Order: sequence, then C-alpha cells, then structure tokens
Amino acid sequence: MTITTTAPGKIILCGEHAVVYGRPAIAVPVSQVEAKAVLIPTKTKFHIIAPDLKRDYRLDSALPDDPIASSIKLTLAQFDELPPHVTLQLTATIPLGRGLGSGAAISTVIVRALAQYFEQPLSTDMVSRLVFEVEKLYHGTPSGIDNTVIAYQQSVYFIKGRPIQRLRVKQPFCLVIGDTGVVAPTHIAVGGVRERWQANREQYEGYFDDIETLVRHTRVIVEQGISKPKALGKLMNENQELLEQIGVSSPELERLVQAARQAGAWGAKLSGAGLGGNMIALVELAQADAVAQNLRQAGATDVIISQIE
Ligand code: PMV
Repeated sequence: MTITTTAPGKIILCGEHAVVYGRPAIAVPVSQVEAKAVLIPTKTKFHIIAPDLKRDYRLDSALPDDPIASSIKLTLAQFDELPPHVTLQLTATIPLGRGLGSGAAISTVIVRALAQYFEQPLSTDMVSRLVFEVEKLYHGTPSGIDNTVIAYQQSVYFIKGRPIQRLRVKQPFCLVIGDTGVVAPTHIAVGGVRERWQANREQYEGYFDDIETLVRHTRVIVEQGISKPKALGKLMNENQELLEQIGVSSPELERLVQAARQAGAWGAKLSGAGLGGNMIALVELAQADAVAQNLRQAGATDVIISQIE
C-alpha cells in the first residue's frame, strides 16, 4: 500500500508583513508547483529520501533542528504512534526558500501521508494547525497564512488567529511570478521589520494601516470580478512602495518589478517575506508571455504564469 499526497505552492497577493501585526492579507494557491510525498511500507526503520533537499537519512539519526523530522514527530505525537517502518520520499517543484510556501507544503504532505497510513481522519483545520506548529519552530513568529492557504488549497482573506475566510475570486485573473533566484530566509526579513517597528512603532503602525486599506480594496475588486484590472494593479504598485518603505525590498526585486511594468503589467510587487524570493505581476492573459520574457531578460531565474481562480 503506497500512499501519495500532494500540496500546492502559494503566493501572497497583498498584505505580507502587516499580517504579522494583525492586519489582513490575501494569499492564493499556485497549482503549477507542488510538493509530493510518497510513503512506502518497508521492513526497515523510518527512512527519509528528499533528493530536492539533498537529504537521505533515517528518522532516528535526524538532527534536532530538522524540519522534516519535526513534521513527522509532531504528527506521530498527535496520533500517539511510534515511527512506522516506512520509506518517505519527498519531492518538490516549488522553489525552496523563495516565498512560494515550500516549507508549509512539505509539512502538509508529510502530515497527510502519515494520517492516511494510520487511517486517522484529520480535518483540514487540524492539518493546518500541525503545519503551523512546524512553521513556528523555523520562522519565529509566523502569522499562519502559509499553512492556511496550503492546507485548505484555496484563496484566503487571512487575519491572524481568526477563523479562515475564503476569498471568492469572481473572475479568474493572470499573474506572472518571477523569481530573483535569491534565497532569503523569512525569519530574517520578519526579524528586521520587528526591530524597525520596535524602534519606530508609530511610523510602522501607519505603514501597516495603509497596507490594510489596500488589502481591503483588493478583496472588494477580486470578489466583485476584476472589471478594473488597472485599479488592482495600482493597489499592487502602492503595496510595493510600502514594502520598500518598511525595508523588505531589494535591488533584484525592484529590477523585476520595473521589467514587468515596462512590458505592460498593470501592477507588480514583491510577494512574501522579500529581500529576495519572488515578485508577482498582474497581466492581461495575452500579455503574459511578453512579461515573462522581459522578466527573464531582467534576470529572473524562473518564471511561472498562473491563472488565479
Ligand atoms: O513565507 P513567505 O516568504 O511567503 O513570507 C511570509 C509572509 C510574512 O507576512 C512576511 C510572514 C508571515 O508569517 O506572515
């Protein structure tokens, strides 16, 4: 009995960083990339093979700070089970450490594969909570947006600590996602914002309030059907400006953002923690290839065209 589970990547459409401080954010799944777990019963001890992470090891020899082992151990504790005799193969087409949710997606496929193995019913909420526990070990103070959008596999309007609110995308729209190729750990960007917020609370609370306003407008536009794509693009551009002001942009991100706008995108911004990772551009479907090409010319190491539904 081989068990296979998959989970999509994600991008944050708007509201990153402010979401850590209680403001809303919008995230959408990206199904063009995924994490996958294949769990195969064997006669030997729990073995993990993760070629994309260049890892091949036994669970009982995992280092204490190993996130894969943490996901497994937390799930086993939840079910009150000992490590089974299995091989767990993990693969991911989601680029690692670039704001597309690779960590949460890998944890999600592990939790789901073990739940199936032990024939334990596990609600989506419980999957999301377990993945959040792992995120907390590695990202310090995560808002919980990644585990929510990936476990539920649907677009969300997310506020930390509140029940999930589904975002209804009335009319599909097209995003081009460009990768700077720069790996930037989330906790560094989040920690930097926290330091600056502590030094200048009033100013930063003001930035977060401004971000909240544009996230609310974005929600209205997306839920009503994007009859005014230019207006949505403008909100993305304003969000980018605010992210620059709170110090999480980078020259590589800004080069790609400019390249997308020059090629006709309605708006563009960094997505996720910033300082590297990915940016997103809102484009007319017919324009997507031209924007993608311009992004590659401007140095994008990878480009994904995604229809958001
Ligand atoms: O994991 P990333 O790069 O998508 O960034 C997470 C978004 C932040 O708002 C910066 C942090 C968080 O926990 O919400």
